[in-house]
Amino acid sequence: MTTYSKTSSLMRRGCEFLGTEYAILCGAMSWVSERNLVSAISNAGGFGVIACGAMTPDLLDKEIAATKTLTDKPFGVNLITMHPDLFDLIAICAKHEVGHVVLAGGIPPKGSVEAIKAFGAKVIVFAPTLALAKKLLRSGGDALVIEGMEAGGHIGPVSTSVLAQEFLPALSKDHLVFVAGGIGRGEAMAGYLEMGAVGVQLGTRFACAQESIAHPAFKKAFFQAKARDAIASVQVDPRLPVIPVRALKNKGTEEFTAKQREVAAVLDREEIAMPEAQLQIEHYWAGALRRAVIDGDVENGSLMAGQSVGMVTSEEPVAEIVQQLMRESEDALTRR
Ligand SMILES: Cc1cc2nc3c(=O)[nH]c(=O)nc-3n(C[C@H](O)[C@H](O)[C@H](O)COP(=O)(O)O)c2cc1C
Repeated sequence: MTTYSKTSSLMRRGCEFLGTEYAILCGAMSWVSERNLVSAISNAGGFGVIACGAMTPDLLDKEIAATKTLTDKPFGVNLITMHPDLFDLIAICAKHEVGHVVLAGGIPPKGSVEAIKAFGAKVIVFAPTLALAKKLLRSGGDALVIEGMEAGGHIGPVSTSVLAQEFLPALSKDHLVFVAGGIGRGEAMAGYLEMGAVGVQLGTRFACAQESIAHPAFKKAFFQAKARDAIASVQVDPRLPVIPVRALKNKGTEEFTAKQREVAAVLDREEIAMPEAQLQIEHYWAGALRRAVIDGDVENGSLMAGQSVGMVTSEEPVAEIVQQLMRESEDALTRR
């Protein structure tokens, strides 16, 4: 077995927290991060995370059970905080004694962190600002992921490099921080580890791995795309705040503009309230992503991808991607 002593030493706290050989998480990707990819990541020494997305508690129950038949290594579950059945989903995680729950998509609602900790699981949180990060870590978050706007899927306004400079010096001594967004190679991973991160999270780089069930057409679009093709969606109506989504530009990008206008009009007629309007937008994304990932409709579906998509050029086994990242990181640290 290859050893990566310098990288492993910087990852030690992250590995201990995750229970893995490498502190490399594959961030949850709706429709993509299901039993096959998740188990492959964990079996390769990384940390797979099931994307619950809009799944019902019953579906999540089945997905966790199926993942467990494919790996005996640790893996996590990502829950979206605005899911209407959040507490039932937490109960499913408790039933399966899931070790790590990632709360994504907004501030965790009252009682959710406590409900997760009550069955002994670790809570991983996201925070867009340092003040919020400190608050979440004080109130039960066990680890933090900072995710820059280079990432695929829903994004914040700040780049990974700036977030890393703001958060890591302030938090890394006393807290566990993982860095996500735009990481395509091990040299970048090494840089963030040296700055105090205990590990990294990648999505785009793993989305088209051999073990990923994404449709061949979805994978082909990734292989052909360059960094500049992964663009952030634009908010068209100032009254309807939508979280930008980074995806490869296609016809679906325009359809999203139309969808926003449609929802804004319903909002204007006061037929729905703002939270419902925002939920409708999220349902739109979940459906559009499914069309691309599962049905292979790369024209009208959503091809969520980060800027590192230009570094995804062929279908590789997960284990090879993980080893490549570790090798590149170790070589970079050795050259220092
Ligand atoms: C296709 C796709 C779907 C995603 N879906 C989710 C999701 O359902 N929940 C979530 O928290 N993050 C989601 N993400 C973000 C990833 O978990 C991860 O944080 C991100 O991809 C990391 O940045 P990178 O794409 O630059 O590697 C998604 C990303 C992609 C590319």
